[in-house]
Amino acid sequence: MKVTVVGAGAVGATCADNIARKELCEELVLLDIKEGLAEGKAQDMMQTAALLGFDTRISGSTNDYSKTAGSDVVVITSGLPRKPGMTREELIGTNAGIVKGVCENILKYSPNAILIIISNPMDTMTYLALKSTGLAKHRIIGMGGALDSARFKYQLSQHLGCSPADLNAVVVGGHGDTTMIPLIRLATWNSLPVSKFLSDEQQKQIVNDTMVGGATLTKLIGTSAWYAPGAAGAAMVESIVRDEKKLFTCCVALENEYGQNDICLGVPVVIGKSGWEKIVSFDLSAEEQALFSKSAEAVRSMNDVLKTL
Ligand code: LAC
Repeated sequence: MKVTVVGAGAVGATCADNIARKELCEELVLLDIKEGLAEGKAQDMMQTAALLGFDTRISGSTNDYSKTAGSDVVVITSGLPRKPGMTREELIGTNAGIVKGVCENILKYSPNAILIIISNPMDTMTYLALKSTGLAKHRIIGMGGALDSARFKYQLSQHLGCSPADLNAVVVGGHGDTTMIPLIRLATWNSLPVSKFLSDEQQKQIVNDTMVGGATLTKLIGTSAWYAPGAAGAAMVESIVRDEKKLFTCCVALENEYGQNDICLGVPVVIGKSGWEKIVSFDLSAEEQALFSKSAEAVRSMNDVLKTL
């Protein structure tokens, strides 16, 4: 198994670190446009192998895509990160060109790869990857909901005083501060509805804090977060390379599921060796469905910006 992570910034490097520690592949390539960055981080990570006890071979490359040849899975994190006060959407102009170029280069050497998109604005970058490559829809997966659902569980755990690992909770819709929909109605604590233990006020707070989870961190750190985004990408790689068939909320091409078409948006999907293998549909409440449609509208208008670039 061979995995490539494009972009050796904080998110890409953290994702690679998680992949190596879990030994998800024999060969892991980290690639970046900045001279020496990927080589340096790859070497630094390799020097943890003796300490952590993993056998994944990590190598770095400055923009030489021939080194990525034959990758089974490619995680794309390239592009500018958010600065404080910036929305993910403001990155579209710069990141669209970068992501399109990366996809082309990757597919030249790894025509069968499954692509995981992390670059922002993630829903639009996933749509761009789908349209510009013409790949089968199952091979393109946007990471957003996997991260947002983990952040949702964190917020719930803080209020419940429980282990995040005991929670089942998903965020659907877009990966934007106003477009994501934490489905608190359906969230459970080891199968017990969380609504039984939280006041309406707390529930509102949790939903709100989840939605601005990324922006809160950007403000604190001064740039986009990386631990959870990197770990979310690695968890998706794991479900693919081990064919785990785990259920993640991810950004995928919708063809009339959840009432939407010609758009990539976060819905529950089974992830296995062929990429996203099926969309799991369930009935949203009227209010949730209305939010989902609104989210789709916002993402669609972002996608329209692609036509003007
Ligand atoms: C975040 C970025 C990765 O939400 O979109 O932190």
